[in-house]
Amino acid sequence: MNHFDYRNGVLHAEGVEIPDIAKQVGTPFYCYSTATLTRHFHVFRQAFAGLDALVCYAMKANSNQAVLKTLARQGAGATWCRKANCAAVWPPASRPARSCFRASARPRARWISRLPPASSASTSNPSRSWNCSRRAPWPSARLPLFRCASIRMSTPRPTRRSRPARRRTSSASRGSARQVYARAAELPGIKVTGIDTHIGSQITELQPFDDAFALLVDLVGTLRADGHAIEHIDLGGGLGIPYRVDNSPPPLPDAYAEIVRKHVTKLGLKVMFEPGRLIVGNAGILVSEVIYVKEGDAKNFLVVDAAMNDLIRPTLYDAFHDIKPVVQPPAATPRMKVDIVGPVCETGDFLGLDRDLPRLKTGDLIAVATAGAYGAVQAGTYNTRLLVPEVLVDGDRFHVVRPRQTYEELIGLDSIPDWLK
Ligand code: LLP
Repeated sequence: MNHFDYRNGVLHAEGVEIPDIAKQVGTPFYCYSTATLTRHFHVFRQAFAGLDALVCYAMKANSNQAVLKTLARQGAGATWCRKANCAAVWPPASRPARSCFRASARPRARWISRLPPASSASTSNPSRSWNCSRRAPWPSARLPLFRCASIRMSTPRPTRRSRPARRRTSSASRGSARQVYARAAELPGIKVTGIDTHIGSQITELQPFDDAFALLVDLVGTLRADGHAIEHIDLGGGLGIPYRVDNSPPPLPDAYAEIVRKHVTKLGLKVMFEPGRLIVGNAGILVSEVIYVKEGDAKNFLVVDAAMNDLIRPTLYDAFHDIKPVVQPPAATPRMKVDIVGPVCETGDFLGLDRDLPRLKTGDLIAVATAGAYGAVQAGTYNTRLLVPEVLVDGDRFHVVRPRQTYEELIGLDSIPDWLK
């Protein structure tokens, strides 16, 4: 469900005509819908009504400040890795209760001394916890400064075929988990009170969640029996979204919530979630203009002004994004099979292959759907291409929430050494 619909043959974002935005900001640009963002957040949160649940939006999916602010206003917490990125949106005072800090990839424990007291943190690497403890500026007492510190367990993403292997792995990791928790319990400056997992992204079946949550809940029982006061469980993100309209849709949040309830209700735990794509994926499109149509004997190409650097998912992951014309051509318009490619001269520069589209021409606009998650945040400036603008629509108004980068800004990042001046 999203709020990008045709009205009188013209694609709208809520009440705004996409061509109107294109006229003002130029192409390509990302366009986000406030109504879709908030709807997805509420549908997800509602699914857990009655549980002590906190939805911490995974800002790695889309960290535009306006997107974060929109979600924060609705009551979302955040899963964050860079303080700078969420400081303005989730002020330190509200952070402990509403955020989950992911420290997994931090090379050193420097971040520890910068966290506000009573902050939450989670790490998937136990040695980070040891480092945290050593660097903690409060070595004297074991205060519960990390009120919600937890350790992320690697629950393998199981498939039916790999089940026997999964059992072996899980019992091995249970042993090491007990050791890790026992070691953590002895550390000064840290109080480990939770457990978490994130089994992967764009998961479109419930079984892997069911299997992983069962393992985790089982582990909670073991850890409690060992004397650890486990108070919260963080189940990560990962629920998939429909990228292809012709595929059967992934499970809805309600069905996912049923699995969660089945496992966690009896434990009396606070439950945290870290959805990213599910909230923002369908709330964004990438709009681009056709530069020219190249017809060949073997293949036709639609060369557009967006490229692999603007949306890298198709070439990086073979990801499918639906592509459609912004203005619907008359029904009698002939159709053509095309590869939709960018102007960067290389094989990987495509947004869609072998698509069946009505015949388009230079100057027409296309929309690349479901581009709100891992789109703009993964964009780059390869081939001296400028980062594209991002626009947020709300009803019949819109705002450029990130302007197009300028060449001065891009080139100004470089610095010439004295010997070359
Ligand atoms: N929590 C953790 C610890 C994660 O690593 C991720 C995403 C999430 C939550 C959010 O997962 P989601 O609900 O969005 O599936 N660039 C890839 C996706 C990488 C996802 C990495 N982890 C893509 O474009 O498909």
